Amino acid sequence: MKQDRIEIIEVGPRDGFQNVSEFIPTDIKLETIDRVVNAGLRNIQITSFVSPKAIPQMRDAEEVTRRCLEKYPDIRIFALVPNLYGARAAVECGLSELTYVISVSETHNRNNVKRTHVESFNELEKILNLFPDLKINLDVATAFGCPYEGEFSIEVVLGFLERAYNLGVRSFNLCDTVGLAYPSLIRSTVENVLAKFPDCEIQIHIHDTRNMGIVNSLAAIECGINKIQTALGGLGGCPFAPGASGNTSTEDFVYMLNKMGYKTGINSDLILSAAKHLKEKVEGNYSGHHIFINKNKVSTQ
Ligand code: COA
Ligand code: ZN
Repeated sequence: MKQDRIEIIEVGPRDGFQNVSEFIPTDIKLETIDRVVNAGLRNIQITSFVSPKAIPQMRDAEEVTRRCLEKYPDIRIFALVPNLYGARAAVECGLSELTYVISVSETHNRNNVKRTHVESFNELEKILNLFPDLKINLDVATAFGCPYEGEFSIEVVLGFLERAYNLGVRSFNLCDTVGLAYPSLIRSTVENVLAKFPDCEIQIHIHDTRNMGIVNSLAAIECGINKIQTALGGLGGCPFAPGASGNTSTEDFVYMLNKMGYKTGINSDLILSAAKHLKEKVEGNYSGHHIFINKNKVSTQ
């Protein structure tokens, strides 16, 4: 093990919920965040400040943010924004950390945020200049390939990161937006990124389209990444990326890491009951079987 402490970053309240068509009442969103916090998570993407026409599910972003800021002053909470408009709204609500998203695939970027690369990078620069104290994580969407444009060479991916690095970004989240990655691609990409950007924080965000979410996330850990994004219940998916399924499931990933001896700080049973509870309340495409183990029974045969 290169590192034994793994930080799980919960993105279910954003990536998981954005793909649920029926509006989830704000109180259920907040209750889910509460359960995730009670299970031990300390780093949560709570919502996104996006156009309600694009993602109606996120229309309560302001209320979710204000209530979370009030309730969890000591927890790292942040939101996704696609543009300056969203960044302003999030900062006005009091957030000090944001995810800004640009796709390596220009086609996906146009579909997702209706912008060319030049437009998205220009807006990123404006946000960095306007809010110098804001922590910006860049979601590098489609980093492992895109349904429209195929796989990207490592030079393209590194060049993309460099463009943002030159503007001042020091935190990158490599996203397998559609779930096209496989462990050797994760390894080669992560190794190259870590070698070229040793002064940056690197996270990984995987979709489980071909049931490779867990092995891909584990491959990243084995290359030295210690910040992994997952979503409660394995919900998730980008409405503008055809074929995308849910994220690596938080409860399954935590179960595996805890069993393997990594320190996550998360209680496996509490996160599992949070997932079960959510499944009872919100209809969605869940992964995992949500089985509790009787710890008092250890069979010797
Ligand atoms: N939050 C809320 N409203 C926003 C907004 C934001 N971040 N950005 C723009 N708007 C509003 C504008 O005020 C305008 O409102 P109006 O119609 O009442 O005048 C409307 O949305 C259209 O504005 P425009 O700048 O023309 O946006 P657009 O239609 O080109 O859409 C995005 C661009 C980025 C706002 C939209 O595509 C979006 O929100 N995408 C989110 C994608 C996403 O979340 N994907 C999954 C996560 S990666
Ligand atoms: Zn995602």
